Amino acid sequence: MPLRIDVVTLFPEMFVGPFDASILRRARDEGRLDLRVHQLRQWARGRHQVVDDYPYGGGPGMVLMAEPICRAVEAVRGPTAVVVVLAASAPLFRQEHARAWAQASQLVLVCGHYEGIDERAIEVLGAQRVSIGDYVLTGGELAAMVVIDAVARLVPGVLGAEASSIEESYSAGVLEYPQYTRPVEFRGRRVPEVLVGGSHAAIAAWRRRAALARTLAWRPDLLDDPAWEECARLGLLPVRAPDG
Ligand SMILES: C[S@@+](CC[C@H](N)C(=O)[O-])C[C@H]1O[C@@H](n2cnc3c(N)ncnc32)[C@H](O)[C@@H]1O
Repeated sequence: MPLRIDVVTLFPEMFVGPFDASILRRARDEGRLDLRVHQLRQWARGRHQVVDDYPYGGGPGMVLMAEPICRAVEAVRGPTAVVVVLAASAPLFRQEHARAWAQASQLVLVCGHYEGIDERAIEVLGAQRVSIGDYVLTGGELAAMVVIDAVARLVPGVLGAEASSIEESYSAGVLEYPQYTRPVEFRGRRVPEVLVGGSHAAIAAWRRRAALARTLAWRPDLLDDPAWEECARLGLLPVRAPDG
């Protein structure tokens, strides 16, 4: 069964292109991914298909109304669908989400716009919400594309032999080690000798140390206790001056 992904958006045309190339195009062609993009206005009432209104309590901008959002999601969701609202004010989207949602039968993504979505729609739908980062986008469409890409590549069979999701960043609580390809020397910089030496054990040890070192420098929040201890054993932690 393919993973079915339904997107509810005011701008379906934005999704033309990003999923028509490369690995995701192939996944769709091979029937591993069933991507359907829906215009929210289909579920608006009235001749003018209005989907937004002023915020209660005042303030700038408009808010997407609960009713068209709920009607849209209720029309497309199956009994086991995971429903996700893209929002700036939400927990961060992480690789664990991608892994879990890649196992689902259906993912329904709701893109906000303007000042966001009436809170009651999210409550009524029992939706999860995620943010793709600590910044504000104009709409949820680009965020939905990020989520779709991250999820789809973890669906079994989507990544062919040319790519792997097993050793990459976030899969083992550390960032991935640096990668190199030919030539062995580029503008005076040589590939680390160990990588051309042919010892699998030495390469694995070098990669682990390099992965820990960059995680420590850039994302220490990802390291668990055993990884901190490993950093200490490998001499990666700054040495503290003795007290007194
Ligand atoms: C202009 S934003 C609304 C921002 C909202 N007023 C706030 O301050 O939290 C409009 C829509 O873009 C999407 N969006 C903006 N930033 C996002 C982010 N970091 N992650 C996911 N979606 C985001 C959401 O769907 C949101 O409803």
